[in-house]
Amino acid sequence: MNYIENLKWRYATKKFDSSKKISTEDLEKLKEAIQLSVSSYGLQLYKVIIVENAALREKLKPASWGQDQITEASHLIVFCNYTNVNDKHVDDFLHMTAKSQGIEVRNLSGYGDFMKSKIKEMTTSDSFHWTSRQTYLALGNLVSACAELKIDSCPMEGFEPEKYNEILGLSKQGLNAAVIATIGYRSIEDHTQNRPKVRKSMNELFEVL
Ligand SMILES: Cc1cc2nc3c(=O)[nH]c(=O)nc-3n(C[C@H](O)[C@H](O)[C@H](O)COP(=O)(O)O)c2cc1C
Repeated sequence: MNYIENLKWRYATKKFDSSKKISTEDLEKLKEAIQLSVSSYGLQLYKVIIVENAALREKLKPASWGQDQITEASHLIVFCNYTNVNDKHVDDFLHMTAKSQGIEVRNLSGYGDFMKSKIKEMTTSDSFHWTSRQTYLALGNLVSACAELKIDSCPMEGFEPEKYNEILGLSKQGLNAAVIATIGYRSIEDHTQNRPKVRKSMNELFEVL
């Protein structure tokens, strides 16, 4: 199974070769993998920002625990969750569903009302964490898709969201930087690539009932 082999090949890359850039074609495939990610109700309550700009990445580096991947990777991906979920997000989704599936939007109103009522039950903090969790599913897909394309990646939580929100002007768009990833090609000088994987045993990780 190639998928497993590719997951074994990948590792959280610490040092990227800054001279190597991901092709436009591969970047499109990675974007599609993110787009196809599962999300709660299918609402996709997040936006994904692809930062190519070198000056912007220099600014973001100190807000990322000074980690070199921010400036050395080919691309920096910032997964941003919506901070104020409202009925419009559900209505937009219903219209998109109706259009995609060739059905009347009024036939979806029951489902829409259900989603809206469930969302209203959440506190602001609940819904913030809920939308933030969705971004991790997209992150997981990105990392796996990268492995399939033999592109290196590093999922990253080592950054200061408030500073990202400020530098990238996210707050005023109702967005919050939830998690980030750097993608590109490993440097031959990255010694961590030779380290054996550290994972719990199957026995410890799984329980069959
Ligand atoms: C949500 C998340 C946040 C992470 N944050 C960082 C980070 O800030 N910097 C870093 O170098 N690695 C980071 N990692 C990488 C993990 O340390 C790494 O995936 C884990 O140790 C397993 O190793 P492997 O990915 O090489 O198999 C993060 C991973 C995840 C999933």
